[in-house]
Amino acid sequence: MAKIGILGGTFDPVHNGHIACAEQIRDEFGLDRVLFVLSANPPHKFASDVTPARLRARMIELALEGHEGLCLCDLELRRPGYSYSADTIAELLETYPDDEFYYIIGTDAAVRLPDWKNVEALTAGCSFILVKRPGDSPEIAEKAVAALEKAGAKFFISRSENLADVSSTSIREAVREAGNVCEELPEKGLVPEAVCRFIGKNNLYKGLPWTEEIIVADLRSVLKPGRFVHSLGVAEEAERLAEKYGADRKKARLAGLLHDCGKNVSEGQLVWIGMTKNDFAAVPGGNVNVRVIHGPVGAIVAERRYGVTDPEVLSAIAKHTTGAAEMTLLDKIIFLADYTEKNRKGELFDNVRRVLDRRGPDAAIRYSCDETIKLILKRGEQIDIRTVEARNSALELENKPDTPQV
Ligand SMILES: [Fe+2]
Ligand SMILES: [Fe+2]
Repeated sequence: MAKIGILGGTFDPVHNGHIACAEQIRDEFGLDRVLFVLSANPPHKFASDVTPARLRARMIELALEGHEGLCLCDLELRRPGYSYSADTIAELLETYPDDEFYYIIGTDAAVRLPDWKNVEALTAGCSFILVKRPGDSPEIAEKAVAALEKAGAKFFISRSENLADVSSTSIREAVREAGNVCEELPEKGLVPEAVCRFIGKNNLYKGLPWTEEIIVADLRSVLKPGRFVHSLGVAEEAERLAEKYGADRKKARLAGLLHDCGKNVSEGQLVWIGMTKNDFAAVPGGNVNVRVIHGPVGAIVAERRYGVTDPEVLSAIAKHTTGAAEMTLLDKIIFLADYTEKNRKGELFDNVRRVLDRRGPDAAIRYSCDETIKLILKRGEQIDIRTVEARNSALELENKPDTPQV
């Protein structure tokens, strides 16, 4: 039976304070290992300043090289959806039924413990080690103890006192201000040198727009695997259609990549981006069919998380689920690429491809709207008015002999 410590966090970035804490707790409690459990998609964070999970994981690997008994645990990274500690403990217990788990928790997190998801399952599955931070007042420590008791947790209080006073926030600020990250940060004792080099090489925390590589890494961790592959397919297809019909290829690629980024947004994140379930009604037609909501929500996510400011790209993402009366060429391309990308298999998709090939985008949009409307009628659901409008205006353009097909 091994004694395993769990140090959970966003680790954005991992720093020397985390490592010092893990080593001191390991020695104080005789732990065999301390797992750095990376919170891949923390439910409470969705801002653009949360670095993609894979990059944070890589920084942990680099930081822990040569530190005995400390290792990265990427369970949450491999699990689709959002990360909750109770699920992680359940999975660890299943994989290592003979081991004992100790959840290392800071005072500020401990105070909120009673509100965590499935807290009973969590406290039943592991013990807690409460770590006081330098500068913690006696009141906050008392509150933390009271919260642990209220949550029914079995816990120990660490006697370690000299835990390094470093925070990820202060590192991000230091990086933003640093002229040369690689030279300045290790000198200040904030982060291991290898992490520093990684931050410098990838331009992290500099407030620069994300590169496509980073967006892709992020989508991979946020979307379900099938949805992720589909998004790559739509990006590729949108670029091809843009080339063929004379739209901006870069914009088409970006809109295609992000078109479904609003798909797996949790209720907590909707609140973060300023929406609640009731606000669905405020999105035109949003109260009609929940399936269409990820279009307008995706446009908001694209702007807030991925820093997209181009109104054409945002419009194409917003309109891809329903279509609209007046669609730009880019809107049409994303709407169609969603059907014609190579991973879509089936008669409907083949038919859209055929109509697009033979009769152009407007005919293909009209055809796919017709099929959607038929399906909704069959299901007895309400038809989104925007789909009817998209269908009618596509029909008009399709039948106007003088209108060049876009
Ligand atoms: Fe979609
Ligand atoms: Fe899609």
